[in-house]
Amino acid sequence: MAVVAGNWKMNHGPEAARAFFAELDLDDVSEEHEIVVFPTDLSLGTAVAAAPTRVSIGVQNVHPEDSGAFTGATSAALAAEAGARYALVGHSERRHLFGETDEETERKVAAALRHGLTPVLCVGETLDERRAGRVEDVVLRQLDAVLETLADGGARFLLAYEPVWAIGTGETATPADASAAHATLRGRLRTRLAGANDVPILYGGSVKPDNAAELLGADEVDGVLVGGASLDAASFAQIARAVDGGGV
Ligand code: PGA
Repeated sequence: MAVVAGNWKMNHGPEAARAFFAELDLDDVSEEHEIVVFPTDLSLGTAVAAAPTRVSIGVQNVHPEDSGAFTGATSAALAAEAGARYALVGHSERRHLFGETDEETERKVAAALRHGLTPVLCVGETLDERRAGRVEDVVLRQLDAVLETLADGGARFLLAYEPVWAIGTGETATPADASAAHATLRGRLRTRLAGANDVPILYGGSVKPDNAAELLGADEVDGVLVGGASLDAASFAQIARAVDGGGV
């Protein structure tokens, strides 16, 4: 079983979302694989209605509170009511462009769990942190900030290792680098969770149809979180087909 997730970021309004799902052809992709798409909040309802049943829909961000005077924000409760099943939490753009802290990330994970959304916790180091040999420190700090909440929630969750320097840049981690970071995360999960081996750890950062098979074949890589290449239905389907090692 592998997970192929697409993060549309601030792209694809309702019309484009409808067109995407009309074109998406997953016929050759084994039913055992999990396919998730994260549209914008404005396209969430359309995506929920238009996506084939085997595709789950998630939100890209949630507010830590359930409701209230938080202009412009979406709560996990509202997202769940609108049909979301997953929530991205701690994406590097939230951390670095919106200044989200580990503490806020933890509260968002808790909110997602409270409302039955499966959290996908994103972690990853910047280029400076990698050059300083701090990959392990950074990803473990980001995981440790939420591990208790995740573990004690008793619900399923996913991790995504996304090196910041690889996001939207065309640079990817080598399969060996991805495996090493994933093994670090897995090791930490094992200290806290009986079911640590069942937590899917996705790789993200410039995943494309032509590198997906290699990354998905790397040790400890249980799936991919795709940004730019998930906007096009044909390329997203090609990546999903790579899960079975099928020719892309
Ligand atoms: P990218 O984005 O595939 O465009 O690099 C990945 C992500 O941000 O999840």
